[in-house]
Amino acid sequence: MSEKVILTGDRPTGRLHIGHYVGSLRRRVELQNAGDFRKMFVFIADAQALTDNIDNPEKVRQNVIEVALDYLAAGLDPQKVTLFIQSQIPELCELSFYFMDMVSVARLQRNPTVKNEMILRGFHNATDESAEADDNRRGLPVGFFTYPISQAADITAFKATTVPAGADQKPMIEQAVEIVRRFNSIYGETLVEPQIMLPENSVCMRLPGTDGKAKMSKSLGNCIYLSETPEEMHRKVFSMYTDPLHLNVSDPGHVEGNAVFTYLDAFCKDEDFALYLPDYACLDEMKEHYMRGGLGDVKCKKFLEKILNAILDPMRARRAEYEKDIPAIYDMLRKGCEDARETAAQTLSEVRRAMKINYFEDMDLIREQSEKYSKSL
Ligand code: TRP
Repeated sequence: MSEKVILTGDRPTGRLHIGHYVGSLRRRVELQNAGDFRKMFVFIADAQALTDNIDNPEKVRQNVIEVALDYLAAGLDPQKVTLFIQSQIPELCELSFYFMDMVSVARLQRNPTVKNEMILRGFHNATDESAEADDNRRGLPVGFFTYPISQAADITAFKATTVPAGADQKPMIEQAVEIVRRFNSIYGETLVEPQIMLPENSVCMRLPGTDGKAKMSKSLGNCIYLSETPEEMHRKVFSMYTDPLHLNVSDPGHVEGNAVFTYLDAFCKDEDFALYLPDYACLDEMKEHYMRGGLGDVKCKKFLEKILNAILDPMRARRAEYEKDIPAIYDMLRKGCEDARETAAQTLSEVRRAMKINYFEDMDLIREQSEKYSKSL
């Protein structure tokens, strides 16, 4: 049997959208179904979400169940995968506390995610001594500053070997690897070095918003959620950004930077043409026609809408089923937490033993001390 331990998670700051689906969720369901692992964990990183949502804890609290429903709708199966909530595993705090001794302040400041936040807050602009700049700098929560350490604990408490995640998570995994090496070199081989598993192709790395902007974000209103109604999705697809130079159907069009084609790159399969758009055999043929002129945006959008509905319809149906029994979802999560805790507790007992802070089971220590004091009698 495979010795792989797969682990990954999401911050519960909103419903999951099709960007999450192509970037990670689709892959997770495939991994789950391939079954090539000893254990697979998917978790909701509520404690991490709080590190930059401290003024909005209710948002995090409400979205735990939304993300769980999206997981189930997308096809994650609690029979095969342990689904759990980060904050319910106190061992993660304990491990983070020990890890804090293994990372320097300077190293955290070099972590790109932390560094960017610090740039935004004016840490790197020491000349700005205004009261506002000073407040902003002081306002950076220690928890945000140290969350790469807590993320290393998330990963290593389960001895994860494989972390499916986007390229944006690379620095976090690198940080985790460094911590594991440091820990093992000080205390002996105890923890496992994780490896990031990046999405297969560049389209899947990041889906742009429907407005063509680089990132899907709730505040820009440019996401298509997995739980989007067909009506709302229709509206979003038909208002998608295409090619501003493609005014008449006969005009030559551009496919690069055209959100409809980026989405088609991410979602469309050759079979979809036979089903929904038999004028073409494959996406390359369709693109060629668009670039030559003579293919209108509406036709492209109708095609994309059909493809998206074929993917989202089964998710909508599954979500509707799961929504009927919310207490059962919390119950499933509670069981997942218990299961995850068992693994984390096992690792922590190994960690304490390696660090020699397992005083009450350390008979050598008790004997040594007792001999030392009996000699002095
Ligand atoms: N940082 C990840 C994100 O923002 C969420 C996360 C927390 C995570 N802990 C993790 C991902 C451990 C993978 C492994 O999406």
